[in-house]
Amino acid sequence: GTPDAMSTNATDWTATKRLPQALIIGVKKGGTRALLEFLRLHPDVRAAGSEPHFFDRHYDRGLDWYRSLMPKALDGQIVMEKTPRYFVSADSPARVHSMSHEVKLIVVVRDPITRAISDYAQIVSKTPGVASFESLSFRNGSAGVEVNSQWSPLWIGLYAQHLERWLAYFPSAQLYFVHGERLVTDPAGEMAHVQDFLGLERIVTDKHFYFNQTKGFPCLKKPEGSSQPHCLGRTKGRAHPQIQEEAMRKLSEFYRPHNVRFYDMVGKDFGWQ
Ligand code: A3P
Repeated sequence: GTPDAMSTNATDWTATKRLPQALIIGVKKGGTRALLEFLRLHPDVRAAGSEPHFFDRHYDRGLDWYRSLMPKALDGQIVMEKTPRYFVSADSPARVHSMSHEVKLIVVVRDPITRAISDYAQIVSKTPGVASFESLSFRNGSAGVEVNSQWSPLWIGLYAQHLERWLAYFPSAQLYFVHGERLVTDPAGEMAHVQDFLGLERIVTDKHFYFNQTKGFPCLKKPEGSSQPHCLGRTKGRAHPQIQEEAMRKLSEFYRPHNVRFYDMVGKDFGWQ
């Protein structure tokens, strides 16, 4: 091959597959792919590319199977994966805890209403002609029109409820909540907090990002393993349908107490109205 002062060969390379020390456990449509791609810029992070769904779907395959999905990492590097379903899966907290009491847990949260609309936009893209967001969000109950909180796009946004199950197993200091909206408006600022939480040097900074006007999102000047600028794919940053004002008003009334309870549990006001 070409001479290269930095080249390594297989025998120099003592990296091994290890179980993750940090997980991005949620939430779906919160910005989990963006966060993982941003963390991968860090030399001390190694992350599995696709979602393993181990603790929610494939737990019976065992920890050796799970470990086999991880990238090789050097001592001192943090191994990670992201599966947003974990946050809302009933069995995941106990299972994650039985793998490690010390694992660090990251949740990207976003206004539950916007998150629901984002989720719905994804459903529409896979199932064209599906009923309207408004008609799926409400149903007739004994007390008249009520919010259909069992509908998955709305149910996932009941963050306090899901978080309660994690706090039965992990101290709150072991969880970090990334502000999903700020991850878009100030990716470097959010990355500083995440790197601190993971005990990493602040290496991913504003130098790594540029705002792509066409995409309407921050993109990477140089993603891991490439020299080309890179934005996330078309499925990240979809157009959202316009939702009727009355439905928006009812949903914000519905989520208000849940959001307030969530802010209290986390000790941080995310400012969703
Ligand atoms: P929308 O498609 O509704 O805009 P996830 O990866 O968890 O499925 O989250 C997808 C969401 O990530 C997108 O939802 C988008 O808003 C958000 N996101 C955050 N930072 C982004 C970025 N730099 N590029 C694209 N999408 C980003």
